[in-house]
Amino acid sequence: MSDRIYARIAGTGSYLPEKILTNDDLAQFVDTSDEWIQARTGIRQRHVAAEGETTCDLAYQASLRALEAAGVAASELDLIIVGTTTPDLIFPSTACLLQHRLGAEGCPAFDVNAACSGFVYALTVADKFVRSGAAKNVLVVGAETLTRMLDWNDRTTCVLFGDGAGAVVLKPDTETGILSTHLHADGGKKELLWNPVGVSVGFRPEEKNAGVRVLMAGSDVFKHAVKALDSVVDETLEANGLDRHDLDWLIPHQANLRIIDATAKRLEMPMERVIVTVDRHGNTSSGSVPLALDEAVRSGRVQRGQLLLLEAFGGGFTWGSALLRY
Ligand code: UT7
Repeated sequence: MSDRIYARIAGTGSYLPEKILTNDDLAQFVDTSDEWIQARTGIRQRHVAAEGETTCDLAYQASLRALEAAGVAASELDLIIVGTTTPDLIFPSTACLLQHRLGAEGCPAFDVNAACSGFVYALTVADKFVRSGAAKNVLVVGAETLTRMLDWNDRTTCVLFGDGAGAVVLKPDTETGILSTHLHADGGKKELLWNPVGVSVGFRPEEKNAGVRVLMAGSDVFKHAVKALDSVVDETLEANGLDRHDLDWLIPHQANLRIIDATAKRLEMPMERVIVTVDRHGNTSSGSVPLALDEAVRSGRVQRGQLLLLEAFGGGFTWGSALLRY
């Protein structure tokens, strides 16, 4: 037995808002079609938060499920980290709101904003806390209400995103768990995918020609995403001395089925070993990886002891991966 402490996923949970918006629904008010959206992205539908339903509401439901699956009470949590780029408020953080809602008073709680890579970034931070012995039970959430900052007249973005949340509870384990994480960022490409208003630059839509909305140069982002993800999956395997064929599952960020396909090809993984939710969820940003993980666990596809590769790419740019034995 080694002295090393791993952070192991003890339980997963997720939550999707009730309301579903199909491609045909979108085609009623924006110049698009089910055929175009499916062919270019693989998306058939997405969930949309109800009026008044916030990121914290989604995070709370996902967290309750993850805590239950892990057999951990909220009062036993040592740390809460929420990956989100659509917080309820500017401050306090969504993690603080969630902590209070869960009744986990006292433990540290903070948000991580890495756009669509938010969950992988949050998981990485949590892993360091558990491995160092600084925390035992850690709740890591990816939660978003991206539809709140979409321009519903912009067909190049509004068809892509959805709302949702996923969560995991990490616990220390002497045998196995998260094997390595790898994070990257390139702030020089910020204008290819961003929401260019905010507190410090000001909320002045007329000056930025934007308003509070997502702007994206889709095909540029596509190319950067494929390249960055190819490179980070190679880096992850190399760091662990593993061959691509050792992997049991790829659990990718769910932005576009064609990007997922490209990464699967790089890894020579048949699509049967790739978790795909983008068809039903759209791109839920930080929510996407933990939502896909929870679905894979609850459907019985992912089993204890299997080797999982998680990856994500998003605005910033940010990208990263986590290799873990479930
Ligand atoms: O999670 C963060 C990371 N985000 C991503 O990874 C997203 C990456 N990008 C993508 O997924 C793809 O680039 C998109 C799905 C956004 C776009 O697909 P594309 O194959 O790159 O299409 P395109 O942007 O090159 O547009 C092709 C055509 C254009 O028309 P023209 O100029 O060829 O006449 C667009 O105006 O498709 C048109 N178009 C649409 N048509 C119908 C763009 N959006 C739509 C739409 N419905 N919703």
